[in-house]
Amino acid sequence: MKISVIGTGYVGLVTGTCLAETGNEVICVDIDKEKVKKMRNGEVPIYEPHLDVLFERNIKAGRLRFTTSLEEGLNHGEIIFLALPTPEDEDGSADLSYVLGVAEDIGRLMNDYKVIVDKSTVPVGTAEKVNEVISKNAKCDFDVVSNPEFLREGFAVDDFLKPERIVVGSTSERAIELMKKLYKPYVRSGNPIIIMDEKSAELTKYAANSFLATKITFMNEIANYCEKVGADVSKVRIGMGTDSRIGKRFLFPGIGYGGSCFPKDVKALHKSGKDDNYDFKILESVIDVNATQKLALLPKIKNHFKDNLKGKTFAMWGLAFKPETDDIREAPALDIINELLNEGAKIKAFDPEAMNNVARKCGDKIEFSKTMYDALQGTDALIICTEWSIFRTPDFDKIKNNLTDNVIFDGRNLYDLEDIKKENLSYYSIGREAIISQI
Ligand code: UDX
Repeated sequence: MKISVIGTGYVGLVTGTCLAETGNEVICVDIDKEKVKKMRNGEVPIYEPHLDVLFERNIKAGRLRFTTSLEEGLNHGEIIFLALPTPEDEDGSADLSYVLGVAEDIGRLMNDYKVIVDKSTVPVGTAEKVNEVISKNAKCDFDVVSNPEFLREGFAVDDFLKPERIVVGSTSERAIELMKKLYKPYVRSGNPIIIMDEKSAELTKYAANSFLATKITFMNEIANYCEKVGADVSKVRIGMGTDSRIGKRFLFPGIGYGGSCFPKDVKALHKSGKDDNYDFKILESVIDVNATQKLALLPKIKNHFKDNLKGKTFAMWGLAFKPETDDIREAPALDIINELLNEGAKIKAFDPEAMNNVARKCGDKIEFSKTMYDALQGTDALIICTEWSIFRTPDFDKIKNNLTDNVIFDGRNLYDLEDIKKENLSYYSIGREAIISQI
């Protein structure tokens, strides 16, 4: 099939590349000339495991092309994906100006029947708005479909190629048939393509992300309470998660959720509710608790150093909001860095992928290290903010030989307490007993 994808951000790029992978002819459109030039040369603008291989293969095969011309993109595709940014407005709502701006152009430029697919995460009612905007100038038939993505950063290629489900929001038989045909190769395992109306599809995305953010936040509160009563959240987590109604996933406590989706989507759903006279009390709490949770290590750090962080140097392992990505949007590490710098401390950081992004944001306010062990040199303590696999089985001797105060503050509960007890280290984690070295 002939497909066009408007917007080559994270979602657009993964969508375009993975649609080309099953033999579709895909054109990706972006207004950023430099970016398009680079992509034409085979350069992937984001870090996402496996994307580079698919990208190269499909460009070489001539199935994946790039242009800055919306007109060229529109003439090409029978299905047009809108994968445009919907940034958070100051009031927390999703800013639809990019989506509606492009919809206006589509209305003017479209010459034959198209299915316009909202792939961006958009508030309930957006498909209707897009429809109205296109209709103003349209000279031909079209349908607007809501088809939310459920891609996780770090696993996006796999999630796209083997989705657990595909949600298609449309009431047009013609559009539904085209969407089913397009997605057929991706659901060979029998996973469903769920058809519903546009509004329900739009809400499904917000509901799913907000539910997951709530699940994590609930566990973070249980973890905080565990600390008060001397329980161990790792045990509570297993005890709860083995109930299949609860499930084992997304129960890992830590220093809060971040990234480009959860924070934005929870706030947007909360704001939409307000606009529609519905007060999502639970989401308000989730937003508040998560903001506090991002700094959950700070009281432990301050307490350990008796409220005097001035002149202390902290090694920091992990900057990305989660492993397998260079994304630092809403990353808890950034909040912790800010607080520590305000307290007069210094930071030496290491992250396998995200250091360039942090350097762009923080400049020379913090120091970056080539390896995780280099980051330890001349520091007082280690703070772990992201659970990259490489941090899971470190050489504890190297840690002890470098830190002047043998203490680890672990925001991701990477180590077994029993193992740590053998190492003569002080160790603070989330929702578990603090271990204080006697040496
Ligand atoms: C999420 C959704 O999972 C995906 O379906 C949607 O399309 C986009 O948003 P992503 O932001 O890539 O994906 O990351 P995810 O793996 O879901 O993690 C989100 C945040 O929750 C991270 O900050 C992570 O550290 C945190 N998290 C996750 C926890 O704190 N505990 C957990 O148990 C799981």
